[in-house]
Amino acid sequence: MSHVFHRNPKHDYPVAVAGDGCYLIDSHGKRYLDASGGAAVSCLGHSDQEVADAIKAQLDKLPFAHTSFFTNEPMEALADELIARAPPGIERAYFCSSGSEAIESALKLARQYFLEIGQPQRRRVIARRQSYHGNTLGALATGGNLWRRKQFEPLLVEVSHVSPCYPYRDRQAAESELDYGQRLVRELEAEIQRLGPDQVIAFVAETVGGATLGTVPPVPDYFRGVREVCDRHGVLLILDEVMCGMGRCGTLFACEQEGVAPDLVCIGKGLGAGYQPIGALLASGRIHDAVVSGTGFFQHGHTYTGHATACAAALAVQRAIHGRGLLAQVRARGTALQQKLRARFGDHPAVGDIRGRGLFQTLELVADRASKSPFDPARRIHARLKLQAMANGLICYPMGGTLDGVSGDHVLLAPPYIISEAQLDELVDRLALSLDQVLAAQA
Ligand SMILES: Cc1ncc(COP(=O)(O)O)c(C=O)c1O
Repeated sequence: MSHVFHRNPKHDYPVAVAGDGCYLIDSHGKRYLDASGGAAVSCLGHSDQEVADAIKAQLDKLPFAHTSFFTNEPMEALADELIARAPPGIERAYFCSSGSEAIESALKLARQYFLEIGQPQRRRVIARRQSYHGNTLGALATGGNLWRRKQFEPLLVEVSHVSPCYPYRDRQAAESELDYGQRLVRELEAEIQRLGPDQVIAFVAETVGGATLGTVPPVPDYFRGVREVCDRHGVLLILDEVMCGMGRCGTLFACEQEGVAPDLVCIGKGLGAGYQPIGALLASGRIHDAVVSGTGFFQHGHTYTGHATACAAALAVQRAIHGRGLLAQVRARGTALQQKLRARFGDHPAVGDIRGRGLFQTLELVADRASKSPFDPARRIHARLKLQAMANGLICYPMGGTLDGVSGDHVLLAPPYIISEAQLDELVDRLALSLDQVLAAQA
């Protein structure tokens, strides 16, 4: 009997014992092609020797020194590396251990910023429906996914939620992508006006919607409009790039492709690539300066803030991404993956939309392509697909509740940046087989 409190205590999990490039291997020797990097984490695959060596070397020198007493070399070097490539105006890195912690840090720093500059009345946050920002209470309150929030609602602070950018379902037939994006921008501004422009701290959004919506790239000029509205009302723009950042979409920061710079940007997942748990909040110089010249102290912190070994791992990951030309590889393989998905699933009766950017792609599943009607949630297509794919030796990331937290199914793909063309074919073959088996079993 296991003494672990498993995520799903009724499920019998295989035991992962080894990694080999893009594959995970269980205790029976079965190999699984990891087509989602777990949840968009393992961007270098599961056996990167350089990252493992960097961790071992750091352990031999210094595993950890509490950052209320010391700084450390890998943390300083990682901050230099990230800030050198960060969007304009971003000047400081604050390290933590997860994406949720990065979001919590962003919310608290944003609030403290307004105290520092003499606007203590600002206390409201606006985010988007169908977003996911993490599972700690502040991050959960910010996220707009009904299913995840529902049972914890009494514990959540009040956050406004506006429409996500979701053209497949929400753009009107007669509306251009540009017009659709500007309609969303007007909706955001109307919500700021409703709350009172001097009441709002920040607008929080995933640059490319991830786990709950399924890799939706923003329509052109949407984020430019968002940036303008935020600036007009003195509202901070917090971008959540925990999933879509660190090269996943083909540029180190996904927002580079939108031509906007946020005030705060959260990263995680691919930052440590699964070799160590690490997240970070990157902040503008303006916000950092306000704290320094105000109270002089960000009132936050965790025991493992700036953990030396985690930072050494993330530094090795950064060096691998840039030293091995992996951003260009993500763009090339991402294009190839999308082409292969369109070739295989473009006419599939159960695939309504194929979308994404870089190695961050999604199939949205539908019962009927013409009406876009989703499958009955009771069929739990996404859960069955996850199991069937695993049976076929494929790790992918299906999720339900795509439309509204209840109905809709999609399957997210986020393979390692090192995936080969042949492995992309294997991915598509195994996914197609798994999807057809699930649908056939329920026919
Ligand atoms: C966009 C986004 N933000 C935040 C988080 C939370 O990150 P973590 O699970 O590391 O706390 C996630 C995790 O899936 C995410 O996708």
